[in-house]
Amino acid sequence: MLIFNTQEGLKTHLQKNFATKKTIGFVPTMGALHRGHLSLIQKSMSENEVTVMSIFVNPTQFNNSTDLDNYPRTLEADVEKLKEISDNIIVFAPSVDDIYNGQTIAQNFDFDGLEYEMEGKHRPGHFDGVGTIVKRLFEIVQPNKAYFGEKDFQQLQIVKKMVKKNQLPVQVIGQPIYRETNGLAMSSRNERLSKKERNEAAFIYKTLQEAKLKFETKTAAEVIQWVENEFLKNTHFKLEYFEIADEATLKSSAIKEHHKKYRAFIAVFMNDVRLIDTISLN
Ligand code: PAF
Repeated sequence: MLIFNTQEGLKTHLQKNFATKKTIGFVPTMGALHRGHLSLIQKSMSENEVTVMSIFVNPTQFNNSTDLDNYPRTLEADVEKLKEISDNIIVFAPSVDDIYNGQTIAQNFDFDGLEYEMEGKHRPGHFDGVGTIVKRLFEIVQPNKAYFGEKDFQQLQIVKKMVKKNQLPVQVIGQPIYRETNGLAMSSRNERLSKKERNEAAFIYKTLQEAKLKFETKTAAEVIQWVENEFLKNTHFKLEYFEIADEATLKSSAIKEHHKKYRAFIAVFMNDVRLIDTISLN
């Protein structure tokens, strides 16, 4: 398996593929790989001649330094998991200096308001950090297609917006959420939950599924009220937000319009571990 720690090394290697016009699929990650990431890799391998995965914990997208320090870093184990799939995956695991060249700051983006909703409200500057790293990685890897999980649905919409606004020649592809058997959305942060907490965290998806059923007959305001009450009754969690929003604009919506697609979004704390999830409602 080829592992590159510098952009120069990776770019030199990829030159050959640019010359022979081999299609490149790209899966950007922050490591601590789980089956959700591996399914993105498999999708990329089925659709492209070359697949590159980046493993880079991007400091500029963390608005909380404790969260950045606690983020799991498991490069060796990640590489072993990738080897089980294929030796042909190219891994790009650069240092912060290699990417930011001594200036660890994010560029400012205008995502037409998508950045001010939900995660953007609660994690100021987060999407500037995401935009900065994804754009930089796209410039280095120059992929034909890039794969993102739908758990971070807002991030997916923002990356699509960035690609469109900057006219980048890459197709951004979202993939369905990969879940544990109890329904908990797979996330690198789940590593920080005990076994008991992981079991209790099944409550998040269970509540989302019930919210989806209620949305068939009730207003958005009624469903929101119901979810907030459910989380008040459950002492394992602290609800940060539950919102029902238009899938395209991510703006929360009090009235239902038949031609629009709606989605519920949730962020909760289980002790100091922040978990997010989302479900399509119609
Ligand atoms: O979703 C993630 O893991 C990160 O936000 C990403 C897209 C790899 C950028 O650092």
